[in-house]
Amino acid sequence: MRLNLDIADLKALARRRVPKMFFDYADSGAWTESTYRANEEDFARIKLRQRVLVDMTNRSLQSTMIGETVSMPVGLAPTGSTGMQHADGEMLAAQAAEEFGVPFTLSTMSICSIEDVASVTRKPFWFQLYVMRDRDFVLGLIDRAKAAKCSALVLTVDLQILGQRHKDVRNGLSAPPKLTLKNILDMAMRPRWCAGMLRTERRTFRNIVGHAKNVGDLASLSSWTNEQFDPQLSWKDVAWIKERWGGKLILKGILDVEDARMAADTGAEAIIVSNHGGRQLDGAPSTISVLPDIARAVGDRIEVHFDGGIRSGQDVLKALCLGAKGTYIGRPFLYGLGALGKPGVKLALDIIRKELDITLALCGKRDIRDVGPDMIHRGPAMD
Ligand SMILES: Cc1cc2nc3c(=O)[nH]c(=O)nc-3n(C[C@H](O)[C@H](O)[C@H](O)COP(=O)(O)O)c2cc1C
Repeated sequence: MRLNLDIADLKALARRRVPKMFFDYADSGAWTESTYRANEEDFARIKLRQRVLVDMTNRSLQSTMIGETVSMPVGLAPTGSTGMQHADGEMLAAQAAEEFGVPFTLSTMSICSIEDVASVTRKPFWFQLYVMRDRDFVLGLIDRAKAAKCSALVLTVDLQILGQRHKDVRNGLSAPPKLTLKNILDMAMRPRWCAGMLRTERRTFRNIVGHAKNVGDLASLSSWTNEQFDPQLSWKDVAWIKERWGGKLILKGILDVEDARMAADTGAEAIIVSNHGGRQLDGAPSTISVLPDIARAVGDRIEVHFDGGIRSGQDVLKALCLGAKGTYIGRPFLYGLGALGKPGVKLALDIIRKELDITLALCGKRDIRDVGPDMIHRGPAMD
């Protein structure tokens, strides 16, 4: 049996174990996928300075994100339909994050509900909000997140309308999958996945079904979701959402210096520099390429977090050096989950932790809070 030593190994195993429709849903970007690819490729171009003969004992990866202590500054990004990568996926990933000591963010478009996740965790998790046209539903979601004691609201601002992923259209993506001959044959090749799905009752969007008006069944759900993302969402809405929530607010999906400055004016706790993992505006720059300018523009007016393209602990370190206080992984934990369930999410985190720790040491540092742009090699890259 092949050892799972890096995130690419977990991806290969997930590809075998997760039905094609859901594996592709994770491993895809909008249109030509150029931004999705750039997120990963631009990391590879950045080189680190190797330092020697410095004391490397007693290293620490512990830090804080929006004032919460984290065992390393790497949270789990909100991802929709996670319970389709593996039965009860959100509950398992939240538990893995809790045991690891890092934040878990539950998507509005999750399979397991806010209440499902709260029922299997002790530490507060974070909730990601999509603003729908049905404002009563949105207010209800905010109140449910409060009642579940979520400790931060992550407002996603880069999905007022949906980018198109060709693979999802070709695969006829739906949750649960439609029982076409093609899908039945595909699922028959993934017995573990099927067994898990047969055991659980959580197979559709449980934050929505039974909570939104006129959405009681699957047929009404898909038309509801397609119409509901609010294309009129504006900076003004951030104010009432912040007020209704009353707790820590994070704005996710900032990719432009101007927007970052405006975000800092809202009084939110943090921004996440993100292009939605290359799933929205294809042709937008990679997140790591814009991070330094954004970090410089906002200074210490707002905490800067980062996601997109992180596939190793080295990538985490590069993002931290270039101005991020915290980072998130999306696909890496989804691959771990699809490959091995909860232990797979922990393995993904552990792989990243080990890589981060060794890289920190080989760069001559002992404390993750002590990294900066001086650790980036400035000479010509030797790709
Ligand atoms: C399968 C999938 C589903 C996603 N669903 C959501 C979502 O529901 N809400 C959201 O704010 N971001 C969503 N994202 C974006 C992630 O939160 C994050 O920005 C992105 O995955 C980071 O890039 P990475 O996957 O390269 O780590 C999703 C990403 C993926 C891969």
